[in-house]
Amino acid sequence: MQNLKILAIESSCDETAASVLSGGREVLSMAVHTQIPIHMQYGGVVPEIASRSHVERIGSVVKNALNEANMTLDDIDAIAVTYGPGLVGALLVGVNYAKGLALAKNIPLIGVNHLAGHIAANYISHSELVPPFVCLVASGGHSHIVLVKDYNTFELLGRTRDDAAGEAFDKVARVLGLNYPGGPLLEKLALDGDKTKYKFNAGFNSKDILDFSFSGIKTAVINLMHNAQQKGEDINKADVAASFQNAVVSTLAEKSVRAAVMSGTGKLALAGGVSANKALRGEMERLSNKAGIKFYCPEFKYCTDNAAMIGSAAYYAYASGRRDELSLNANPSLPLNNC
Ligand SMILES: Nc1ncnc2c1ncn2[C@@H]1O[C@H](COP(=O)(O)OP(=O)(O)OP(=O)(O)O)[C@@H](O)[C@H]1O
Ligand SMILES: [Mg+2]
Repeated sequence: MQNLKILAIESSCDETAASVLSGGREVLSMAVHTQIPIHMQYGGVVPEIASRSHVERIGSVVKNALNEANMTLDDIDAIAVTYGPGLVGALLVGVNYAKGLALAKNIPLIGVNHLAGHIAANYISHSELVPPFVCLVASGGHSHIVLVKDYNTFELLGRTRDDAAGEAFDKVARVLGLNYPGGPLLEKLALDGDKTKYKFNAGFNSKDILDFSFSGIKTAVINLMHNAQQKGEDINKADVAASFQNAVVSTLAEKSVRAAVMSGTGKLALAGGVSANKALRGEMERLSNKAGIKFYCPEFKYCTDNAAMIGSAAYYAYASGRRDELSLNANPSLPLNNC
């Protein structure tokens, strides 16, 4: 089991990715084709274009991952693939490609939940991390506080009731005149801003409520910018970016550290695309230290979508006996419970 070779495929949104792992934590190769330059001209992901780009690229991305690992399909013990949540057309490309390989080579197939993959990114970066622990998954489509009871059992402790954190970053970035994806560009702009300039409120102030709401703060920023524009006032966009980021980061960090304390696990991890945000990483580490909680976050290359994290999650699913049939289908709204 420890040397099990997994070929993992990820195509849930705008990255076509493949990776080969040995066991659950050793990454032998990682190939990613990002579609960001394609979608940039539209200001966001266009699902139909994403699916077509996955179709064009998946063959060469998988080939690159195998070559980089110095392997052929004959060396592979299991094929892992993201089957949800995500864009259905995009998911179907990966799922069908993986099924084709599994059928042709008679290799076991493992369907992986994309969010379980984001959480597993932490296993690759921290060899000592084992469940149980609490994990904040903050990404383009989700803001979940998850109790990871064991490798394959998850309990949702809190979630956003409207926009995801990454989605709020992207929408606010757009109103500030930044390109897609806005999160990293907004973080850069915020470096030159005063985070105390505007008092934005990121919903559900009570730390006892573990749910989030980011739609109100997004609207507050949009209104501020539009009002200023109508009055012909000049607004320092860096101050707006810094104040917005500060409000979002504070609520994400406070609630997830609170959940980690309440869980009694003594451990908190961070995952998902927004985990690349240095202000969020810093604040979660600061509050965790203060509360006596050990804090983990993935290396930057495993924060946004990649296939290595899917391979890691697949390893633990495989170890618990999971095998999927060739009838495996994409599920765009696959929930994160026992998977
Ligand atoms: N440095 C950063 N600061 C803030 N947000 C960031 C940063 N880097 C990436 N993001 C945000 O992360 C999101 C992308 O993350 P990810 O690739 O995990 O999302 P997704 O796969 O589309 O959604 P999900 O994982 O929920 O299905 C985008 O919203 C992007 O703006
Ligand atoms: Mg993702």
